[in-house]
Amino acid sequence: MPPLFRLLALVALALGLALPTARNGQAQDPDKGPKLRPVTTTSATTCFFCQYCASCHCGSKRMGNKDLNACDLRSLLDVKPTADILADYPKAKGYVVPGQPEQSLVWLRVADGSMPQGKGRKPDDAAKAALRRWIEGLPAPKASENLIVNGSFEDGPEMGNDTFKALDEDVTDIKGWVVTRGQIDLYNGLWQAAHGKRSLDLHGSPGFGGVKQEFATKVGQKYRVTFSMSGHPSRGLDKVQMAVRAAGQKAVFECDMAGKTEKDMKWEKKTWEFKAVGPRTTLEFHTAMPATADPFGGPALDDVKVVRVDR
Ligand code: HEC
Repeated sequence: MPPLFRLLALVALALGLALPTARNGQAQDPDKGPKLRPVTTTSATTCFFCQYCASCHCGSKRMGNKDLNACDLRSLLDVKPTADILADYPKAKGYVVPGQPEQSLVWLRVADGSMPQGKGRKPDDAAKAALRRWIEGLPAPKASENLIVNGSFEDGPEMGNDTFKALDEDVTDIKGWVVTRGQIDLYNGLWQAAHGKRSLDLHGSPGFGGVKQEFATKVGQKYRVTFSMSGHPSRGLDKVQMAVRAAGQKAVFECDMAGKTEKDMKWEKKTWEFKAVGPRTTLEFHTAMPATADPFGGPALDDVKVVRVDR
């Protein structure tokens, strides 16, 4: 669904939420009845959130998580609650998870009566039921297609029983990928991979390297890169750093190596976003370790995905 239609669909669903409550009792008095009103110019809110939540979670008054704006439906869907906020609600996966009230913190806190706080109006059972139905009816975001080929490095050179293979700059043996800068090592089961059996050490034997892949993009479109990061587990490294680049933008990621072993690499999921500036974009991962670092062991990479960000 194009973003504008998705927003309209959300607003329409929000209206749907208001209607059942309106039929439930207070509809005669328009002043007391539920209202649907835009709270900010860029967003619309259901009367549920503006009636019961806005006084504490809206505009400049933001209690709890300051990133959350209950008057902005996008923020309810996009902002991820932090781990300490979720600690008491192990089943919750977000504030509002489309189609899944039992995973929606907003529903769980309304259902158990812990929200709204304070002396203000409380939602009655009908209003609560409408909130639940609204979450149930929200369209699940379409799983976007991974634009990266062979993101887990499984498709590559024949390795037999070799546990790793050093690959030089410009080598294209790993399907879809080109080695950059220096040498890297392709690992094959010597250590635990984040996905499948193979993964990369961006330091070769020896070398300071990287990998890149090019794919079709749309100018101005945002893309989300996710990947798993760890580091060579048996060279006594404290921390490893890796850079990610695309479309003239760059970020550096770091992993603490404490507790990471060959059997338990404790792969960390990292996320980065960039905006495309051309019809094709090259994504590169390369070591960001200082020149004095151990050239035989560095940042490890696996399970790369790139998806469009439509919201
Ligand atoms: C009178 C003020 C008040 C009202 C009204 C209120 N809240 Fe809250 N809310 C708070 C405060 C204070 C916190 C932070 C402390 C906590 O988590 O209990 C909070 C925290 C939360 C949290 C979890 C922590 C976070 O910030 O992410 C959620 C979810 C939440 N509120 C949802 C709601 C919803 C949904 C409504 C409306 C049905 C609502 N609240 C109405 C005061 C309020």
